[in-house]
Amino acid sequence: MIQYICPNCFGALDVVYRDLDNIDLNPEKIASRGRDLWRYIELLPLQDPRNIVSLGAGFTRLIKSIRLSKKFNLKNLYLKEDITNPTHSFKDRAASVAISKALEFKLNAVGCASTGNLAAATAAHAARAGLPCYIFAPVGVEKEKLSHALSYGARIVLVEGTYDEANWIASRFAEEESIGIVNVNIRPYYVEGSKTLAYEICEQLGWRTPDHIIIPMASGALLNAIDKGLNELKTIGLIDGDVKISGVQPEGCSPIITAYRENRDYIKPIRNINTIAVSLAIGNPGDGVYALRTIRRTRGTAVSVTDREIIEAVNDLARLEGLFIEPGGAVTIAGLKKIVEEGLIDRDEEVVCLLTGSGLKTPHIVHEHALEPLIIKPSIDELKKIIGVEKIA
Ligand SMILES: Cc1ncc(COP(=O)(O)O)c(C=O)c1O
Repeated sequence: MIQYICPNCFGALDVVYRDLDNIDLNPEKIASRGRDLWRYIELLPLQDPRNIVSLGAGFTRLIKSIRLSKKFNLKNLYLKEDITNPTHSFKDRAASVAISKALEFKLNAVGCASTGNLAAATAAHAARAGLPCYIFAPVGVEKEKLSHALSYGARIVLVEGTYDEANWIASRFAEEESIGIVNVNIRPYYVEGSKTLAYEICEQLGWRTPDHIIIPMASGALLNAIDKGLNELKTIGLIDGDVKISGVQPEGCSPIITAYRENRDYIKPIRNINTIAVSLAIGNPGDGVYALRTIRRTRGTAVSVTDREIIEAVNDLARLEGLFIEPGGAVTIAGLKKIVEEGLIDRDEEVVCLLTGSGLKTPHIVHEHALEPLIIKPSIDELKKIIGVEKIA
């Protein structure tokens, strides 16, 4: 049985690298390697590189915003467009490392509980590794995301209930000796994949830290992973400087934000969830307590955003920056707007917003909230009648 929970406090275990101080890693060495997350292999938990399962996740673009930054009156806004991974979300990072580790543990099968994105990422990497894959998801999960996971041959189990109930079933299933459930019994390795986002941001800024990173939260695992990555880079001397870490949740599912506002250090799970950011719909966030600590320790903040604000952010990203992002990934822009309005960001601050999933995964959002296409006969006269082409010039 893989140990993934502390036998004393039942808290989650994290991977710790005992000899971080002695790691022989420098910017030149890293720059000479392949452009994916495995370029940081010394900081990843694999004993034998032959176990790497990679579809090329990582090294996505860090884009300096031009038009959104004008809207928010910021000088240095960066967008980490983490949607060009193999299955178009940041979860490919987590899946690549966790499934590599599953091979190293010689597990016979893998799986996950998912709000949508982890399903496709796990299924794709399982296919690459040649392992059977079992996905547990709530029935409400977006159908595009299910089709994506199904296409890789995964066995999908839809649970009539919430994500937390699907996760509970997955956790019981993980008690089977030979299966690695990515977000349960091999979770410590999954987090290691996500932390590479922090490495990349620093590398892409020329081995500097930004002042502030804004992160979407569901379980809170990604936020903590970013913090872990930054701390490791500091320990090995590749960066210095403090980074404020802020978290954003949709108002219809914001148990971490409520705890932050009420100045609590524990999370009250919620059952009534209602948000268009379905991928962030976790009522009982497993890493929520740690996320709260990280946000407070780094002097970041925690904000919730309404569905209307999320749609505005999706539209702004598309229309001002040419980036098509799903609601769960775009919450950071809605959150940034709030944080700016609250006066918590200086105009000169270097801010990075994570954009963690592609809009191609949630096309219904566009159809519900944008202009319908015009349908015409193949006739220029008809076109002119409708949109008055002659006036455009
Ligand atoms: C697009 C997207 N962004 C962010 C998150 C947040 O991840 P975490 O559960 O690590 O907080 C998720 C979770 O599924 C997600 O799908």
